[in-house]
Amino acid sequence: RAARLTIDPAFTIGPADRRLFGSFVEHLGRCVYGGIHEPGHPGADPLGLRRDVLELTRELGVSVVRYPGGNFVSGYRWEDGVGPVDDRPRRLDLAWKTIETNAFGLDEFMTWATAAQVEPMMAVNLGTRGVQEACDLLEYANHPGGTRLSDLRRAHGAKEPYGVRLWCLGNELDGPWQVGHKTAQEYGRLAAETARAMKLIDPSISLVACGSSGRGMPTFASWEATVLEHTYEQVDYVSAHTYYDPTDGDRASLLASAVDMDQFISEVVATADHVAARLRQTRKLKISFDEWNVWYQSRVQADLDRRGWVEAPELLEDDYTAVDAVVVGDLLITLLRHADRVGVACQAQLVNVIAPIRTRTGGPAWRQSIFHPFALTARYATGTVLRTEPVSPHYATKRYGDVPVLDTVALHDEESGALTVFAVNRGTEDLPLDLDLRGLSGLHPVQHLALVAGDDPDAVNTEAEPDRVTPRELPTGTVDGDRCAVRLPGISWNLLRFA
Ligand code: AHR
Repeated sequence: RAARLTIDPAFTIGPADRRLFGSFVEHLGRCVYGGIHEPGHPGADPLGLRRDVLELTRELGVSVVRYPGGNFVSGYRWEDGVGPVDDRPRRLDLAWKTIETNAFGLDEFMTWATAAQVEPMMAVNLGTRGVQEACDLLEYANHPGGTRLSDLRRAHGAKEPYGVRLWCLGNELDGPWQVGHKTAQEYGRLAAETARAMKLIDPSISLVACGSSGRGMPTFASWEATVLEHTYEQVDYVSAHTYYDPTDGDRASLLASAVDMDQFISEVVATADHVAARLRQTRKLKISFDEWNVWYQSRVQADLDRRGWVEAPELLEDDYTAVDAVVVGDLLITLLRHADRVGVACQAQLVNVIAPIRTRTGGPAWRQSIFHPFALTARYATGTVLRTEPVSPHYATKRYGDVPVLDTVALHDEESGALTVFAVNRGTEDLPLDLDLRGLSGLHPVQHLALVAGDDPDAVNTEAEPDRVTPRELPTGTVDGDRCAVRLPGISWNLLRFA
């Protein structure tokens, strides 16, 4: 039961885009309020931005952050969140049954993004609003000055345009839960018209059309086909969203979640390419995988039903186990392996809400288990993703049938010459892995870091025990000529570095 991986830098998929390490901040629960923004917190800066969360965001290595939703954006009036804070209206947020104070809005987000050293990715409301409001927001954000809305931004203190490059044309409008839910025809027309108008204001922006909110949606693939018939020429990306729910306890299937993501990506690519063929388009569309994660989703409705309208409730505050961290690491491996067609990816979300970072309001911030594979992948996945054909034993799952025990991706950094291999052992037994580095003779193993869930699969990090689940150093492999033999512990995510 050994696995084999042959690595040759002659066979490449494409460069590992930094935008694959994106995250997401939605006005949802305590993601914004009590997460990134908490004016009364002892560690907050004068604007109320939590410095501990800023520091962890930078450590996480996040590149792009999508904002302000999510389901929230489909009922949002962006103007509510700018100007003097005391004048901002309190509103009902229908998506999350929450009172939105609007104490945090676009200008605060842009200040936060600069401090966090991340690229902003804005979403416009195409649920309850349309072309005009999207254009207004873009004018406020990106137009240099001399017009009503750009001058308003300047009056609010931002003299220079924000220059936001990435824009989502709404959110999950295929979902019946979405405020302003639409058919593919309705959404396709609206998205195309909005895109056309937005590009007249700022032709340098990149636009994302909404794909399906999950591979399991009844309209999946036909939604993408119809929407792209309308929007192909105007947009640069089609979105994909996916969440994997561990609640049913089927760990073998959960560990194979990346198999589903992999097929999902291939199906969206096939659908987009089909539309391109019909429209005689040679430009290939990319995927913006702008929501993905493990999410104990089945708990949410009860949470919403139980309470009335409140501000910043504790919502979707999942505690992630060591197994969940291995799954997250594997989802990142999958995104990287599709680096030729996935151009942006955002883990949902950043703080408190299904997030790698947790905080206590008034208290500390800590790293959840899933923080670690993300931070290490963002740090070491540099250079070019290599095309590999791993050979692996298989195991049976209820949800996805027979799947490989090993999942892996290899990257070659031409500048430094270094090779990095990320590998997941989905099986409960140790997996011997034989690496053949024939195309990169002379490299030696320098590090084997592993997040091992096999010994304590349900372990979680908490405020009291924030470092219970962390990666640990393992002996590097044994070298024999161009071959290197390593052991991947049962249920583990591994980082193997060669220099
Ligand atoms: O990330 C949580 C929610 O999941 C988002 O608001 C929505 O877009 C998706 O359904």
